[in-house]
Amino acid sequence: MLISFPETLELGVASAATQIEGGNQNNSWYEWYQKGRIKDNADPSVANMHYERYAEDAQLMGGMGIRHYRLGLEWARLEPKPGQFDETAFAHYRDELLLLIELGIKPLLTLHHFTNPLWFERMGAFSNASCVGIYLRFVSKVVDELGDIVSEYITINEPNVYATSGYFFGEWPPGQKSLTKTLRVMGNMCECHLRAYRLIHEKRRNMGFSDTRVSYAHHMRVFVPMNEKNLWHRLGARLMRRLFQTSVSSAFLTGRGGFPLRRMRGIKRGIYCDFHAVNYYSRTAAAGLGAGFLPGVPVNDLGWEIYPEGIAQCARELYALAKLPIYITENGTCDSADAFRSRYIYEHLKVLIESGLPVERYYHWCFTDNFEWAEGFSARFGIVHVDYATQKRTIKRSGEFFSKMIREGGVSEALYNEYCDTDYNVK
Ligand code: BGC
Repeated sequence: MLISFPETLELGVASAATQIEGGNQNNSWYEWYQKGRIKDNADPSVANMHYERYAEDAQLMGGMGIRHYRLGLEWARLEPKPGQFDETAFAHYRDELLLLIELGIKPLLTLHHFTNPLWFERMGAFSNASCVGIYLRFVSKVVDELGDIVSEYITINEPNVYATSGYFFGEWPPGQKSLTKTLRVMGNMCECHLRAYRLIHEKRRNMGFSDTRVSYAHHMRVFVPMNEKNLWHRLGARLMRRLFQTSVSSAFLTGRGGFPLRRMRGIKRGIYCDFHAVNYYSRTAAAGLGAGFLPGVPVNDLGWEIYPEGIAQCARELYALAKLPIYITENGTCDSADAFRSRYIYEHLKVLIESGLPVERYYHWCFTDNFEWAEGFSARFGIVHVDYATQKRTIKRSGEFFSKMIREGGVSEALYNEYCDTDYNVK
């Protein structure tokens, strides 16, 4: 075997509600689409029509031997008006989760993944101080409805990406460009996470459960100077790392020390994660305040560097803060031709296994091709192909590889030669 999976490591796949479900026009990303801000005019209210086809998708997943699935809830669907919950939508998710469990697939549930109900977006979403109570009201209802069948939660997905894309670069809703607001959003999201952590534990404890695990999913990167000899590049890399990454790592984990994020008033110092959740894709090269990629490196279809070593560097960075189990809650690549995805998966898993870190889960991003936010349908990250004209799902070669790898408990030389002996594009 080239790599064997330790018994403690389990493999799964990930997705997010808005990226696959369709059938909802009451959210911030549908509005962004209406404003013409999606590259290929892809309509998120269609997406993969997974809301209708969830049973087919779950069967496909189960048939591939996948036993872990990170999925999200569409808040806009569950709480279409402030404080008014849609019981039919809760029943739908309950059916979906029960089906997954019946198929032997353990869910990890994401409560917020980039998308807001329109009413929440209109009041300033997480830039408005009252977001904390509103978000907690939603979380509380979710645990009331689904807490008996779901033990593992992600409170918020990638607060740094949400805040910077929407409030600093203005490329995502609500399209603003303000550093102060970006930091305010990250600070408010932090308070949401810290309080939700306690709330979920408390509620499930009262229900008689002791197996609750909660974290937030941290988008992590490796930051290097574009030119090692250039002082501004070196400073740029350090600054980006601080603003985008380490401030979030410490504040969301302990409730403290997240400068330049605001102080968390009324929150005790503690540990607010039961596992480190790492979303890892690539390495960034800083040239002053500009971010890009090093020249001459392997890249994916979006030009992101393929840098497998980074996955362990990021996980180690969090592990140094607290000795918690590690879940890789996202790792994957945009490879529309599915030419190098298997090699990418293999190399990242190899680095993780050889790191000696207590990695308990690896969720591949993503299961099916889907609505890739501002990139629309053109950027394909799935191990299952989706034909958007017919909604037909077809397992890709990387999907076959993933499935065989799970069944064989690792990657043999034969498996590697069959699927991974491919070239990366170099830029
Ligand atoms: C996000 C996903 C996204 C993926 C690929 C992550 O930052 O959580 O929603 O599809 O990156 O871009």
